[in-house]
Amino acid sequence: MIAQGAYAVEPWTVRETDLKLDVLAQSESVFALSNGHVGWRGNLDEGEPHGLPGSYLNGVHELHPLPYAEAGYGYPESGQTVINVTNGKVVRLLVDDEPFDLRYGRLVAHERTLDLRRGVLERVCEWTSPAGSTVRVRSTRLVSLTQRAIAAVAYEVEPVDSRTRVVIQSELVANESLPEPNGDPRAARALKSPLEHEEDFADGPRLRLVHRTRRSGLRVAVAADHVLTGPERTTTSSESNVDVARLTVTSVLDPGERLRVEKLVAHGWSGVRSRPAMSDQVEAALAAAAHSGWQGLLDEQQAYLDDFWARADVEVDGDEEIQQAVRFALFHVLQAGARAEGRAIPAKGLTGSGYDGHAFWDTETFVLPLLTYTSPGAVAEALRWRQNTLPAARERAAQLGLRGAAFPWRTIEGSEGSAYWPAGTAAFHVNADIADAVVRYVAATGDRDFERDTGVELLVETARLWRSLGHHDHHGAFHIDGVTGPDEYSAIADDNTYTNLMARANLLAAAAAVERHPEQAAQLDVDHEESAAWRAAATAMHIPYNPDLGVHEQHAGFTRYQRWDFESTGPDQFPLMLHFPYFDLYRKQVVKQADLVLAMYTCGSHFDDEHIARNFAYYEPLTVRDSSLSACVQAVIAAQAGHLGLAYDYTVEAALMDLADLEQNTRDGLHIASLAGTWMALVAGFGGMRRTGDTLRFAPRLPERFSRLAFTIQLLDRRLHVEISPDKATYTLLSGPRLTITHHGEHLNVGPDSPAVRTVPPTPERPTPEQPPHRTPNAH
Ligand code: BGC
Repeated sequence: MIAQGAYAVEPWTVRETDLKLDVLAQSESVFALSNGHVGWRGNLDEGEPHGLPGSYLNGVHELHPLPYAEAGYGYPESGQTVINVTNGKVVRLLVDDEPFDLRYGRLVAHERTLDLRRGVLERVCEWTSPAGSTVRVRSTRLVSLTQRAIAAVAYEVEPVDSRTRVVIQSELVANESLPEPNGDPRAARALKSPLEHEEDFADGPRLRLVHRTRRSGLRVAVAADHVLTGPERTTTSSESNVDVARLTVTSVLDPGERLRVEKLVAHGWSGVRSRPAMSDQVEAALAAAAHSGWQGLLDEQQAYLDDFWARADVEVDGDEEIQQAVRFALFHVLQAGARAEGRAIPAKGLTGSGYDGHAFWDTETFVLPLLTYTSPGAVAEALRWRQNTLPAARERAAQLGLRGAAFPWRTIEGSEGSAYWPAGTAAFHVNADIADAVVRYVAATGDRDFERDTGVELLVETARLWRSLGHHDHHGAFHIDGVTGPDEYSAIADDNTYTNLMARANLLAAAAAVERHPEQAAQLDVDHEESAAWRAAATAMHIPYNPDLGVHEQHAGFTRYQRWDFESTGPDQFPLMLHFPYFDLYRKQVVKQADLVLAMYTCGSHFDDEHIARNFAYYEPLTVRDSSLSACVQAVIAAQAGHLGLAYDYTVEAALMDLADLEQNTRDGLHIASLAGTWMALVAGFGGMRRTGDTLRFAPRLPERFSRLAFTIQLLDRRLHVEISPDKATYTLLSGPRLTITHHGEHLNVGPDSPAVRTVPPTPERPTPEQPPHRTPNAH
């Protein structure tokens, strides 16, 4: 586990000044660079030592059979796993005949800095070889946010006190050997040598490798070009073979002299394009990058990020750790989605192979809200990916005997990748989560073209699923039985409140959308009878409630179950799923992650303040947070219920999930949803931001630690700045025409020259609910 304080607490950087080899894999995730298309883990330039080598191309995966001890109808037969593609970041160094390897010799100084404003990873180190030669190495790495195929490294070496012979080997490496997977069943299965050679090429500073995956048949091309600066006596040679292409640069340097290699790397992949076409594609991308040059790429990166921070930054005064963590979170969420363009945003982004590189509902429910209000274009792309996968989702629905589309619980290319029914396909709520993301995006942007071309189809096909999955009972009430909600410690339950409320919203949104877009409705064969049936199901949707306790039920009958024996559960028996049988978790009152509490956030208008407080007090002592998706949601509702200290503690937990490696699995990749949840905890929690139609409501209240919280959001072509202090909130329109919002229920009309300032009302006093034993939030 990364010790707290492993990184210096600074507002715009994440800096490590000590290289700890035992936590290398975690820092590789923290220092990962990506643009949503290409992902490079923060591996050391020289490739070794490493925790987990990782270079990913979004969508590149291999297939493997999913074995079952007992066969069953409709079980997915083929699994998908992200693969480590050709590694273009390797730059090896030989110092007076000895490999520059930090496991040997003496590391005199080491610093790595992730610069969140410039979008680069910088490294400076000084190392004395076992034979006593000391060199200083500097490298800067970027994955370009402006040129989607491109990543680049500038690598520089200089001797410190005597004339030194140095050899730099800049490489492209395919089929790197990977460490054996650890015991966590959720971590990805590393696939051995997944790439078959098709082409290798080396000519002077230019290198190229083309490979193809064996089963999925995807072609991967990676090419590099180099610019060298060094003394005249520098010589070069290059060579390639099936899995390696290498440029070798040799020189003899006097103290004060430097050898510098600028390496541009272009990536491409395709399931259809030919080998020559792929070679040409990466060469063209390389030519464009060379045209910008190294400095040009740095400048473009900076300009892209300046623009991002101007519309997305969150400022926290009074808490430096949260300030750093939220910017780290914003940066990584941007990296995960910025240039995914028609591909999924996986649960780990492109920072590691955890969860086999799959995307889940995490994207629509946790990641897209942040992007909707800061980088809406990325949301449209992510939802277009869902639209592109509709054929697979329709097929899955048909296979299950349902209408419309059944989107997969986990996937890379669109088909169901979950072999496990109760916590897999039965979690049908992913369909409503996608619909909710469509509605949120359209409300926040007013993008009617998107609604017409993408939104309607997604809404209609998901509404069809609900109508066929549920049924009206003899009293007319509509039920959705036998499904799994967000809480994976309950499964195949009737009338999960979250699912039913989200399905209701989905059905109503579909009915409204087909009215606005009659042509699309006709193309999709929706008639009045069908949309009337959606409305009828929505209106009659059953929402289970226990009147004796005065609380909503997570699902029908949940509050009648036996309570989990928390008192006899030891601190080392979490996560419960690794220590107790699922059958027992399923039949007891114990909650893995916010479920009913999540419903109170996403479907807030269904609950009044009293219910929010009572439900939260009821579910809090049952919720063990064995998923990283929970803390941020609990933060939001704790803040709404007036438990600001508790909300703060949950915010810290979400914010430090990876910077402090709270779940001890950051090595497998970052928890992108929890990172996005940090923004959610601050903006929806302490900012109290909620949406009704296309209007935003705010109900800000700060925890004691914060003296100020400020954030900017994009809404309907406007930029709104919200600044909150302990006693007042200021709403300023930075650009665009007047806007109506609410502050603690009061309507405000904010104009370009008239910021609105309102006082923050007192916080309602309520006893703070307790968590299960050993599960208080990881506050510091
Ligand atoms: C959670 C799911 C989540 C998945 C991927 C699981 O542990 O229970 O809700 O989608 O992780 O993050």
